[in-house]
Amino acid sequence: MHPLLLPELLGLISGYLAHKEQQRCSQVCWTWNSYFSPLVWKACTVDYGCHTKHKLIPVSALHTYAPHIRVLSFQGFVSADHFAIPCTRLEHLKIVDGSRVDFKGFSTEQPREIWASLARLVSSNPDLTTVEIAEIDWIPTDVFWKAVADHPGIRKLSLDQVRVEFGHLKIFWQACSGVEVLTLQRCRISNHDDTLDTMPVMFRRLQELNVENLLQPLPHVQIELLRLCPQLSSFYWRGGAVHGLARDNLLSILGSGRLPNLDSMDIMGMNLTDLDTEHIIHCMSRVRKLAVYQTNFGPSSIRSLEPHFKSIEELNLLQCPQVTSANVALLLRSCPLLRVLKAEAISSDEIKDGDVWPCHEHLRTLVLYFDLTLADRLGECHIVFALLSKLKNLRRLNISRYLTPHGRRFLGDNKSVQLRLDHGLGLLESLRHLEALYFDGIIQDMTMAEAQWMEEHWKALRTVRGVFTNSAMLNREITTFFKNTISGHIPLPSSH
Ligand SMILES: *[C@@H]1O[C@H](CO)[C@@H](O)[C@H](O)[C@H]1NC(C)=O
Ligand SMILES: *[C@@H]1O[C@H](CO)[C@@H](O)[C@H](O)[C@H]1NC(C)=O
Ligand SMILES: *[C@@H]1O[C@H](CO)[C@@H](O)[C@H](O)[C@H]1NC(C)=O
Repeated sequence: MHPLLLPELLGLISGYLAHKEQQRCSQVCWTWNSYFSPLVWKACTVDYGCHTKHKLIPVSALHTYAPHIRVLSFQGFVSADHFAIPCTRLEHLKIVDGSRVDFKGFSTEQPREIWASLARLVSSNPDLTTVEIAEIDWIPTDVFWKAVADHPGIRKLSLDQVRVEFGHLKIFWQACSGVEVLTLQRCRISNHDDTLDTMPVMFRRLQELNVENLLQPLPHVQIELLRLCPQLSSFYWRGGAVHGLARDNLLSILGSGRLPNLDSMDIMGMNLTDLDTEHIIHCMSRVRKLAVYQTNFGPSSIRSLEPHFKSIEELNLLQCPQVTSANVALLLRSCPLLRVLKAEAISSDEIKDGDVWPCHEHLRTLVLYFDLTLADRLGECHIVFALLSKLKNLRRLNISRYLTPHGRRFLGDNKSVQLRLDHGLGLLESLRHLEALYFDGIIQDMTMAEAQWMEEHWKALRTVRGVFTNSAMLNREITTFFKNTISGHIPLPSSH
């Protein structure tokens, strides 16, 4: 046999090929075709929008290659016959309407037929685990929801701007009740009297619930969902126009002990006081993730968080005006498993020469302004870099300076980290995985040498944002330099 027909060799080659090249390879000969087709067709997007320049895939090709397709997306205007494909190994089904690409989509008779085809796709694919529907004008039919409800394997259901009619409520909630991860964004789930009486189900398997800006039902009714999710471990909620009723409901449901597994909470605002966030933490048996953006999280909450310092992995305390630099320093000194920390600021007197944060192996994302205003010497910048240089797994570093919506400012002259080699930037050579660096709002005086150093040492870097220097011309030059170089960087393989 010719060596180029050996599957082991093809396997080796294919790893280095982009999708387009795999496509070309599949046209070389029969052997290559049978090897590359499953790769080429594994993820298939049926997309036709005037601006995407995609040619619609012929229905005949979809029929031939349907058995290879694992991930299938419909986007833009797609004629009804494209939906009736004989896939049997689908794992992920995604439907995004073309309303965004200036197509109104479908004639009025077609939706029934299309949803019936989609329902058949769901039923005939036992490996299906994920269904995503976003931005569709045409309202799903009960036939479709029934197919989802009857499918035992669907773990993840994600709906964005989907409308659910009153008459379909029961079957809709049944479709939701079997999944482990449910995401509802900007949906309108019609219920006449704004109670959940029409919801007959318990979400027995639900572990992760993400609810964002639902148009209906009202926020306090959305919170009622929590009463029905005994296994829930993660709750993300953005309530839209929230009023006090929702807050009271949230605190009372958490206090009722119905959610013994809850360990991740991501909420925002709602006028939560320090005592409210303390109560929330108190109701969680374990805290893995806590994001309390724009709340009054403060001293009481920090105290109630203390028993969880050893287990906490993710903290977002951005725009919490009561969180002090000393609080941030305490958290960084005490939480060895932190992967993500977002907080407003830490000042130089909280950082000592030789400090190493115990989370240095884990930290992937750090959003923190280093306030060196009161620092008495340039060496302070070296100390910060030395500390950061220990964070060997850091992916995203955001040292932007932020003003709170309440207008609270840091005092003094905005002195912060200077990204300059003569200030110790070279110490950050160890951040081999760094993909993104942001420094909005802090005054820099970088030169091309710093830009070249970054490009040379941070091979995973894809994004740099901030004003490099106040010389407009040099700033443009550095911007062009980054545009031309780092866009080709790819993230290094990660250790987990
Ligand atoms: C927060 O409280 C203020 C004053 O008590 C009130 O005016 C405002 O509407 C509340 N905001 C929310 C989102 O409840
Ligand atoms: C960087 O952090 C600031 C807050 O300090 C935030 O407002 C901004 O959105 C962040 N930027 C990115 C890209 O994450
Ligand atoms: C600090 O920064 C803010 C916003 O970037 C700016 O308005 C203010 O003038 C600065 N203060 C000084 C002393 O430079």
